[in-house]
Amino acid sequence: MEERVALIAIYPGSFDPLTNGHLDVIERGRKIFDYLIVGVLKNPHKQPLFTSEERKTMIEEAVKPFSNVEVEIFDGLLVNFARQKGCRVILRGLRAISDYEYETQIALINRKMAPELETLFLPTSTEFSYLNSTIVKEIASFGGCVRGLVPPVVERRLKGKFNSRSIPGSSPDF
Ligand code: PNS
Repeated sequence: MEERVALIAIYPGSFDPLTNGHLDVIERGRKIFDYLIVGVLKNPHKQPLFTSEERKTMIEEAVKPFSNVEVEIFDGLLVNFARQKGCRVILRGLRAISDYEYETQIALINRKMAPELETLFLPTSTEFSYLNSTIVKEIASFGGCVRGLVPPVVERRLKGKFNSRSIPGSSPDF
């Protein structure tokens, strides 16, 4: 009998920071694939709120219960990293129809560069369809409550970031 090769997928993103919408995609994705790699993009052209290490640590805490999920930082082209990791699928969440155009563009570009990699879209659960990292940062920056929008570890780190920023001379909690 032919041996089945493990189906590894990558779920890439900026995750600045991880939201419950992202976590929903991770939880559902890990049941479809043998192994799911959460790829945290280290983008030299962007100034994120959290460093890539901070983002990775928060995601690792949130996915601790999931044995087949691993978190990795990558830079450069996603397809190169996906190939290096032996992935056959790129997983992306779709919140609304407005995401579709951009996501299709990325998927087609990636397919042009790496035809052996398939992009699969998972519609985000309706309760998270309005959610993104930018909104979460905006709320937290003005002292609003983000409970239920992000995992507890992210809620704590956001509080640490913004509280310490408002006290002159203090440093973030990392
Ligand atoms: O969470 P985001 O910011 O929507 O994720 C975008 C991401 C990381 C999937 C995309 O920007 C990406 O893959 N960047 C890596 C560079 C790359 O491969 N670019 C070519 C395709 S856009």
